[in-house]
Amino acid sequence: AESRSRISVIGTGYLGATHAACMAELGFEVLGLDLDRSKIDSLSAGRAPFYEPGLEEVLQRNLANGRLRFTSDYDEAAAFADVHFLCVGTPQRDDSDAADLSFVEAAVDSLAARLTGPAIIIGKSTVPVGTAGRLTKRIAECAPPGAEVHLGWSPEFLREGFGVEDTLRPNRIVIGTDSPAVESAMRELCAPQIEQGIPFLVTDLPTAELVKVSANAFLATKISFINAMAEVSEAAGADVMKLAEALSHDDRIGGKFLGPGLGFGGGCLPKDIRAFMARADELGVEPALSFLREVDAINQRRRARTVDIARGLIGGSFAGRTVGVLGAAFKPNSDDIRDSPALHVATAIAELGGVVTVYDPEALDRAKQEFPDLRYAHTMLEAVRDAEVVLLLTEWAEFRDADPDELAKVAAQPRIVDGRNALDPQHWRDCGWTYRALGRP
Ligand code: UDX
Repeated sequence: AESRSRISVIGTGYLGATHAACMAELGFEVLGLDLDRSKIDSLSAGRAPFYEPGLEEVLQRNLANGRLRFTSDYDEAAAFADVHFLCVGTPQRDDSDAADLSFVEAAVDSLAARLTGPAIIIGKSTVPVGTAGRLTKRIAECAPPGAEVHLGWSPEFLREGFGVEDTLRPNRIVIGTDSPAVESAMRELCAPQIEQGIPFLVTDLPTAELVKVSANAFLATKISFINAMAEVSEAAGADVMKLAEALSHDDRIGGKFLGPGLGFGGGCLPKDIRAFMARADELGVEPALSFLREVDAINQRRRARTVDIARGLIGGSFAGRTVGVLGAAFKPNSDDIRDSPALHVATAIAELGGVVTVYDPEALDRAKQEFPDLRYAHTMLEAVRDAEVVLLLTEWAEFRDADPDELAKVAAQPRIVDGRNALDPQHWRDCGWTYRALGRP
């Protein structure tokens, strides 16, 4: 039982770093591993390599009390614990929509080959259904004789920006496994959450893998549903915000993830629905998920529509026109710019000849690295200064709370496209702004 108090976490990205820190917070001894030395150095110094509210406090507290350490050495991780969580990334492949499993496979190979006794590996990465089954065979081939390895899959549902909260108090815990040893290890490791009454579901491996991708597919579908209604509302002169509000009072529908606007981006939803379709194709059930093709298309159309509304506002052409963009991160409370709708729109306008200046409270450094040709401002006012049209593309609180009078003083023309339905149209109009939003008259 003593060894159960020690775990390793392989991969220290958004998921792994948060998981490692939170498991230490819950009282376990944790060794986090990543081959990226710069991440390890940063985490060991109590700095999160990305913006995640609350994470650094948890990191620092548990580094100080000695429950949390980081390493790049697989030998150390293999020897440290007998339960290992796999948290490496599964990005979209360069050559197709499928998930790139090379990091998962490399991690499993590296770990399994170094095990010296029985061990449990629990995958948390988002993987195509069937992956865990294949990994079971792969592990059996790599692991030395005597090292009996049991595999489980426990998908992670954390949202960036709420990573600590979601990890300490998830809506549910799912563990897929055929092994009673894995189930009992998970029950011990999740005891603090089970005691709080958080549902704990045991499934087979493929079901656990599917829970994650189907949850993300559902969320993406819900967003695209309301964005499809926004498209219709625009054509019909209806107000999708009122529509969404009215729908949300039906508790079978609910109001969450029913926010119309520029749509979803980030490192999860877009790639996960594409990888899910690719996997359905391989399984011979492609028609079952063909609706996700529409979900993706609706989502992409919102970006094009946002560009069109802004172009319309300035008389039909962006050539040489000054454009202020508020937001670069794919959503507020994150500095993640992977598949960011905001930067997609900003670059599209720049390609059409617009002189685009972007401001974001947290994501500027990453944006500059990835899109060096855009202009960047270090304050909201600077981005709006001299702009002939302003676009709000990520709904940071700083933008929601912005004073329209103050911004009107520096803008060349008080025109705004609210890509996230984050502002009060009446208030902005009263302050002299030409206000346009997605899905509203
Ligand atoms: C998502 C899932 O929520 C999480 O459970 C999973 O583990 C990983 O993927 P995340 O990508 O961090 O999390 O962000 P989320 O808060 O889900 O937002 C995703 C995107 O949808 C963002 O671009 C957001 O702006 C957009 N969104 C969300 C909307 O456009 N409308 C909404 O109503 C809600």
